[in-house]
Amino acid sequence: MRKPIIAGNWKMYKTISQAIELANGLKRELYKIDPQDIDIVLCPPFTALTEVAEILTDSNMSLGAQDMHWEDEGAFTGEISGLFLKDIGAKYVIIGHSERRQFFGETNETVNKKLKAALKHELTPIICVGENLAERESNKTFAIVRNHVEGGLKDISQQDALKIIIAYEPVWAIGTGKTATPSQAQEAQKFIREILAKRYNNETAQAIRIQYGGSVKPENAAELMKEPDIDGALVGGASLKTESFAAIIKNSMGVK
Ligand code: 13P
Repeated sequence: MRKPIIAGNWKMYKTISQAIELANGLKRELYKIDPQDIDIVLCPPFTALTEVAEILTDSNMSLGAQDMHWEDEGAFTGEISGLFLKDIGAKYVIIGHSERRQFFGETNETVNKKLKAALKHELTPIICVGENLAERESNKTFAIVRNHVEGGLKDISQQDALKIIIAYEPVWAIGTGKTATPSQAQEAQKFIREILAKRYNNETAQAIRIQYGGSVKPENAAELMKEPDIDGALVGGASLKTESFAAIIKNSMGVK
């Protein structure tokens, strides 16, 4: 059975003091949860990684970052490398979020380079894929999802594919309050697993965890998690408050 994984993507929210408050609140709220049962990941902005890393030491939660560059170092003003993320104690890194694709020129090619660099540094990449509203309305959902998965995972071996997490995040459901229905999310995520099975083999596809992201809230987490191909959630807005993120985690457990 695949272990559920719930990650909070804090995006460009939380000053250092706010981040400390949230991480401490979650630690207090979730300390009873057995890390054997679920993986919990917090992805604060770069500026708060150090402080949150300290709070998460010896906890049942892990640290993640929201992006990285593919080179280890160099003249790349404003960028942060996998080497630095490893150095700060991150275990996960989100790659190819739709906001990066939409606003910052992220492409399948850059996703693929970042993915390889993350693996080199033994960071677990969370690769985001998903269609926007126009693409869904013109029946291009499967084509876009296939393009993102195949492009992002180009030249990735079966062995390495097992180290990756995929997040299906339909752009029209992000920050809109308009969640994909469990069956819409399941349909896309089953399709992703089929792509992986064809590309690698069924055993590999069955082992890779696929999260759903897009307006996940305490009220809809359980019904999403009940779906056979939904192995967790990548949460934006509702991960910014202790109560709602803790409730998503508690509501997601033991529903399969
Ligand atoms: P929301 O949960 O705010 O819709 O954001 C989802 C997301 O983009 C997580 O990466």
